Amino acid sequence: MKRIDNIPGGAGSAVTVRGLVKHYGETKALDGVDLDVREGTVLGVLGPNGAGKTTLVRCLSTLVVPDSGSAVVAGYDVVRQPRQLRRVIGLTGQYASVDEKLSGRENLYMIGRLLDLSRKEARSRADSLLERFSLTEAAGRPAKTYSGGMRRRLDLAASMIGSPSVLYLDEPTTGLDPRTRNEVWAEVKRMVTDGVTVLLTTQYMEEAEQLASELTVIDRGKVIANGGIDELKAKVGGRTLRIRPADPLELRPLAAALDDMGLTGLASSTVDAESGTVLVPILSDEQLTAVVGAVTARGITIGSIATELPSLDEVFLSITGQKASAPQDARPELEEVAV
Ligand SMILES: Nc1ncnc2c1ncn2[C@@H]1O[C@H](COP(=O)(O)OP(=O)(O)OP(=O)(O)O)[C@@H](O)[C@H]1O
Ligand SMILES: [Mg+2]
Repeated sequence: MKRIDNIPGGAGSAVTVRGLVKHYGETKALDGVDLDVREGTVLGVLGPNGAGKTTLVRCLSTLVVPDSGSAVVAGYDVVRQPRQLRRVIGLTGQYASVDEKLSGRENLYMIGRLLDLSRKEARSRADSLLERFSLTEAAGRPAKTYSGGMRRRLDLAASMIGSPSVLYLDEPTTGLDPRTRNEVWAEVKRMVTDGVTVLLTTQYMEEAEQLASELTVIDRGKVIANGGIDELKAKVGGRTLRIRPADPLELRPLAAALDDMGLTGLASSTVDAESGTVLVPILSDEQLTAVVGAVTARGITIGSIATELPSLDEVFLSITGQKASAPQDARPELEEVAV
């Protein structure tokens, strides 16, 4: 394998990837990926089905050997120092990895023993993680009786047994209901507060928004954009504000008021008569505040207000000028709204 030596990891970079390539036959799963995860932060790797997210996580966990390029995690090279590297990472794979027949406590104990903890250490580590992930009550039951959310929490607990400094989460909430998704997000946030560096793959813009400070967008094995969340959002045109006036008769006056505001960069509003709401794209929290202020000043009472993020499709469309290469999450398309 061709490699580049003495890659500058950059001060405080926990994961440094340069020119990473992995082919599966004709498929270029990774086609020269560069990325950095700064220590103590969450990098969101956003991409549609087949983008190469899991392949990236597998390379960074030493489960797959890249064809070329380099990756250094917590100072260890993925190819030359796999054993040292495995000791400092945790992985929650895309598919639940717990043993169904074993109880939650047995699962965690077994992993602790595999990681060379003594019986006593493995037991106490398992108990404290069960407590932390709110699984103490269910600890003695076989994992097959757990709900989807409990399994995901057990997965997260399992990836924390070895007290990793770098954690990979591969689509941690795909398929979970909104409440369970929120629980998982809360746990991830706690881990980051504790100083863990996280590389998170996701297909959801909202998840990236919740957890990540920076984003790398990949498609067909290539990085197509990266930067701060706000930076990328601005590229895509920020969020859409959906306002419902308390009095349905105020719908048109509300739209007119928004269009009259003359806020810099504020696009014109769209009336969605069916839901009795007005849609207006906003670029910043300041614009949101200004819009609410102006509407209230005109004596229009707001019944409800919500912000909608651009969908992953819209991000791709805006960055690449073309649709993502695979079907995306089913978010309501704003274009479909009746006017
Ligand atoms: N073991 C494998 N053998 C052959 N092809 C593979 C293998 N693993 C991945 N691929 C291919 O490599 C590409 C990237 O797959 P990968 O699983 O990394 O995507 P992903 O971004 O994780 O997608 P998803 O969101 O569906 O999980 C796909 O075209 C996939 O079919
Ligand atoms: Mg995947």
